[in-house]
Amino acid sequence: MKILFINGPNLNMLGTREKDVYGNLNLDEINNLINEKAEMIGAEADFFQSNVEGNLVTKIQESRDYDYIVINPAAFTHTSIAIRDALLSINAKFIEVHLSNIYSREDFRQNSYISSIAIGVISGFGHIGYLLALDYLNALRD
Ligand code: DQA
Repeated sequence: MKILFINGPNLNMLGTREKDVYGNLNLDEINNLINEKAEMIGAEADFFQSNVEGNLVTKIQESRDYDYIVINPAAFTHTSIAIRDALLSINAKFIEVHLSNIYSREDFRQNSYISSIAIGVISGFGHIGYLLALDYLNALRD
């Protein structure tokens, strides 16, 4: 099982950015935890982060070889029809993850352009959300 973890803008600032909202771990530390878990369950995890919408779109277009995508589009969640269309263009099977609970925050965060085409949404469990996504995908194999 090959899974691509995609993170959007400002998530490269985790560890220093609004720690009360997003936690203390930086993105490398989170990705290491994901990698450890992926190895334990015999899955292959790859990682991509970009602050640039077009780069995220291109990466998604190039992701046909992956069984699943786990994506946190960050602020583009609430704005990007282009990312939604890219996910639709490859028929991606994906899980949407947010560190914070977007439904308990500002109104503008409560619309996601991708939730309606996701397998499911995990929001509010900090970095553990990515690990929960992996647990779910592993459970599908049983
Ligand atoms: C986020 C929530 C978004 O609203 C925000 O713009 C982010 C991170 C999250 O993981 O909680 O950058 O996707």
